[in-house]
Amino acid sequence: MAEATVGTNFLTLSHRAKRFDVENAIQQANAGRSHKQGIEYQWQDALTASPIWRKITVAPMRWPKGQSIVSIQEITDQITHQIQLENYEAELLELKTNFSSLVHDLRSPLTSFKLYLDLLQKAKTGKKEKYLTIMHQEIMHMNKLVDDLLALSRLEIPDVHSLALVDIMSLVQEVVVVEQPIANDKGLTLRFLFPNEEPVWVWGQSRQLLRVVTNLVSNALRYTAVGTVTIQLKLEPEQNRVELTVSDTGIGIAPEVLPFIFEPFFRSPRAQAVTPKGTGLGLAIVKRIIALHNGSIDVFSELNQGTSFRIFLPLVRDTAVSQPSP
Ligand SMILES: Nc1ncnc2c1ncn2[C@@H]1O[C@H](COP(=O)(O)OP(=O)(O)O)[C@@H](O)[C@H]1O
Ligand SMILES: [Mg+2]
Repeated sequence: MAEATVGTNFLTLSHRAKRFDVENAIQQANAGRSHKQGIEYQWQDALTASPIWRKITVAPMRWPKGQSIVSIQEITDQITHQIQLENYEAELLELKTNFSSLVHDLRSPLTSFKLYLDLLQKAKTGKKEKYLTIMHQEIMHMNKLVDDLLALSRLEIPDVHSLALVDIMSLVQEVVVVEQPIANDKGLTLRFLFPNEEPVWVWGQSRQLLRVVTNLVSNALRYTAVGTVTIQLKLEPEQNRVELTVSDTGIGIAPEVLPFIFEPFFRSPRAQAVTPKGTGLGLAIVKRIIALHNGSIDVFSELNQGTSFRIFLPLVRDTAVSQPSP
């Protein structure tokens, strides 16, 4: 029994809310009914404020009748162990689910690739072109999947050495240059709204932040058939933050799937019908990177109207004195 328990009056030890149960158990025991289960409760240690779990068992005495023995056992270690075990099990289950999604997602382009390879071998000249195009698409998809997976797994080990001042203004401009041809191909307008030409500084890893903006803009372009994709940068110096929104006029996200979109491998049924196929990893990567940069992300969406992702990042106002955040 731990020191906190030894030599202390049991009424002091029992939790206020549980005292009634304890007294009730004593009464029952005194009346000759043994209390088999014991009463478990959590107790805040007054000195360390850490939780202590205790179990109180009341057993009637044979002699003298009408009295009972109250034993108090400290079970903190057992309970902590049990909670840890439950956490491990939940993690393991998640890992297994993710792993089987991954294997499934890697297998489907491979199966399709093999099928078209067989067809290609037997095909007449006219068909060959078509099969090669499909095989190229499948390989591109697998490539993207492996890239995204690598990105996601690397994020588990944050690299503090590559932190630097990053200019969000020029970073977004870089993304616009790369994504513009895709917008043009689909007949979509891609625009970037910003307060002025000045740089906007945040602390972080430029490659990762580039990935964030790229993922959001390429989602917006992918899930929009007609209209406009707007990237907007706003400064909020009073709140020491930068606001970046990526909005589209696309298919939108149904409210019932909205809670899942940041989970790895989640792709909404409507999104699965859109080509080129996604990997379901983009937003999981975005969310993790934003968290590593002490930022936040939220989303607003209306079905068939459009979607808007909004990011906040801590703004660096004085580039001469600022230190990287831990
Ligand atoms: N701009 C958007 N418009 C509509 N749906 C979106 C948008 N961005 C993300 N989603 C939804 O969130 C899901 C997860 O996004 P993401 O992680 O990037 O995976 P995906 O590879 O499928 O794009 C998508 O499958 C889609 O259902
Ligand atoms: Mg995506």
